[in-house]
Amino acid sequence: MIPKLTIRLYGDPVLRKKAAPVSHISSSERMLIKAMMAAMYENKGVGLAAPQVGISQQIFVADDGEGPLAIINPKIVKKAGSIKIEEGCLSIPGIQVKVSRPKEIWVQYTDQNGDKIERHLTELLARIFLHENDHLQGKLIIDYATLAQKAIFRKKLIEIKKLAK
Ligand code: CO
Repeated sequence: MIPKLTIRLYGDPVLRKKAAPVSHISSSERMLIKAMMAAMYENKGVGLAAPQVGISQQIFVADDGEGPLAIINPKIVKKAGSIKIEEGCLSIPGIQVKVSRPKEIWVQYTDQNGDKIERHLTELLARIFLHENDHLQGKLIIDYATLAQKAIFRKKLIEIKKLAK
């Protein structure tokens, strides 16, 4: 049985915490990853980070259409280019922010089998990796919004915060 996870919403302090590195990948981490993948697909997301389900560990899952990936202890070793794209976040429903991010990245991470992976990522997968990596730092898309956008989002954010309680 895969435990059902609840998506934490904007206003939940766990979303602002820096996630701790994972020291050992055991059956409990693999179970969490399976549950996170199920939650990601159920909510029609392309990525989901552990803090979004209340667990402050450096784990996220992603699927850019090429199949599910589990990313543990990610590191971005090199970035190139810049591109501005509108993003949403399962923890901030109904809000979209144009976020400028590197176009391509070179990354290192550990997968669910404990294997060390090195990859060059572009397009949607690079975007997801950067968005989810932000979650592990306690950073959210609204942090990229301009003051004018923040003023527009204010009411909506208050409503989401109420739901988070
Ligand atoms: Co997000």
